[in-house]
Amino acid sequence: MTDTSLSSTLQAKITARTAKAGVVGLGYVGLPLAMAFARAGFSVTGFDIDPSKIEFIDRRESYIEAVPTEMLQVECEAGRFTATCDFNLLAECDIIAICVPTPLTVHRDPDLSYVAKTAEAIAKTLRRGQLIVLESTTYPGTTDEVVKPILERTGLKSGSDFFLGYSPEREDPGNRQFHTASIPKVVAGDGEAAAALMQAFYGATVETIVPVSTTATAEAVKLTENIFRAVNIALVNELKLVYDAMGIDVWEVIDAAKSKPFGYMPFYPGPGLGGHCIPIDPFYLTWKSREFETPTRFIELAGEINTAMPHHIVTRLAEALDIRSGKALSRSKVLLIGLAYKKNVPDIRESPSLRLMELIERRGGSVYYFDPYVSEIPSTREYAELKGRRSIEWDEAALKSFDAVVIATDHDNVDYDAISRCAPLIVDTRNIFARKGISSDVIVKA
Ligand SMILES: NC(=O)c1ccc[n+]([C@@H]2O[C@H](COP(=O)([O-])OP(=O)(O)OC[C@H]3O[C@@H](n4cnc5c(N)ncnc54)[C@H](O)[C@@H]3O)[C@@H](O)[C@H]2O)c1
Repeated sequence: MTDTSLSSTLQAKITARTAKAGVVGLGYVGLPLAMAFARAGFSVTGFDIDPSKIEFIDRRESYIEAVPTEMLQVECEAGRFTATCDFNLLAECDIIAICVPTPLTVHRDPDLSYVAKTAEAIAKTLRRGQLIVLESTTYPGTTDEVVKPILERTGLKSGSDFFLGYSPEREDPGNRQFHTASIPKVVAGDGEAAAALMQAFYGATVETIVPVSTTATAEAVKLTENIFRAVNIALVNELKLVYDAMGIDVWEVIDAAKSKPFGYMPFYPGPGLGGHCIPIDPFYLTWKSREFETPTRFIELAGEINTAMPHHIVTRLAEALDIRSGKALSRSKVLLIGLAYKKNVPDIRESPSLRLMELIERRGGSVYYFDPYVSEIPSTREYAELKGRRSIEWDEAALKSFDAVVIATDHDNVDYDAISRCAPLIVDTRNIFARKGISSDVIVKA
C-alpha cells in the first residue's frame, strides 16, 4: 500500500468511526481523553503500567474527578472503552495517544524517560498506517528528536509508513466550565499527511481544533501558555510583598484593576506554585534554550520568586505568632488547611502545602493538616518524611487547641465561619475570609 492509500485508509476509518484508538497513561489527562475519544464514537483501549488503574476501570469505577463514574460505565457498557496492562494490544490500535508524565529529574532537567519507554513499547508493535500522537507536555523538538527516532529504529518511516503528531493537553482539573471536548485543541503533524490525519481525528473528537504548522510549534504553544501563568503568578506574588510592606491590600488592588475591560487579566498571589504543570513545564524550555545559547531569565526569575513564597508565608506566620501571642513558632501547634495544590481537587503534586509543613517543622513547630480531599499523604519523592500523615478531624474545641491556622488552599467545603470563630490566629494566603465577607482581628493576610 502506498503512503497516500495508507493515510486515506485511516482517514476513511476515522470518518466511519471504525478506527481504534489507544491511550497510553490513564491519569488526569489520559482518562478524560480516552472518554472524549469514546464519546466521539471510537473504540478505545487504555494502557497503563499501574494495575490498580486497570482494576478501577474493570470495576467501571472512575478515579479521576473530571470523569464521572456514570460516564465511564456508559462507555464501558457500550463496548467503546476497555483498559489493559498488556501492551501487545497496541498493535490493534490505529491511533495511539501518549499521555505519560513529563516531570523534572532531581537536577531539574526534563525527565523524558516515561515518554521514551512508551515510544519503545509502541515501537515493538508499530505497523504501517498507525498514527502516533504525543500529548505529554514537553520542550519544542521532543516529537521529532526523541519519539520519532525511537519509532523509526523499526525501519518504518514517519510520514510514509506511519504518521506522527503532537497535540498538547489543556485539561484543567476542577474546572466545571470546560471539559476535554469543549477546550480548543492545538494539533500538528510531522508532514502533510500526518497533519491531515491529526485534523481529521481530533476534529471528530473535540469541538474546535487549532492546526499549527509543525509539532515543535505545537509543543511551544503549550509551554507558552504555562510560562505565561508562571510568570504572571510570580509578578503578583512580588507585588503582594511590595504592597504588604506599604500597607496596601494586594487583593483589593487586583479586584479594582480587573474592572479594566481590556489589557488586564487578573492573577492571584498564593503560598507558591503547585501541580504537575506550572512549576515544572517552564523549565523544559529553560533546559532546551541552553542548546541555543539563549537565556530564559524571565522564567528563572519567576521560578525564584514562586519558590520563595512558602518561606515568606512561614516568616509571616512566625511574626504573627510572636506579635499576637508572644509565642515562638518552635513552641507552636499549627493547623494547615488544604494540602492539595489548588481548591476542590485531591492532587498534591508539587503542592506548596507540603513545603509549608516541612518548613514549619524545620523551625521546630508542630504541624497538622486538614484536607477533605486528601485523607493521607502518599509517598512523594521530595517529602518522604511526611508519608502516612493523616488529615485530622476537627471541631470547634479542637480548633482552640491550635496556636494558628494557616489557609494554604481554599477548598469550598471547609467551615470558614467556625475557623474564624475559634482559631486564635489565622494566616490566610488565599484571601478566603475577605471573599466570604468574614472579618476578624485574628486574621492575617499573607
Ligand atoms: N494534570 C494536568 O492537569 C495536565 C494538564 C495538561 C497537560 N498535562 C501533561 O500531561 C501529561 C500526563 O500528565 P497527568 O497529569 O495525566 O499525569 P498522571 O500522573 O496523572 O498520569 C500519568 C499516567 O501514566 C502512567 N504511566 C507512567 N509510565 C507509563 C508507561 N511507561 N506506560 C504506560 N503508562 C504509564 C501512570 O501510571 C499514570 O497513570 C504530562 O506531560 C503533563 O505535563 C497534565
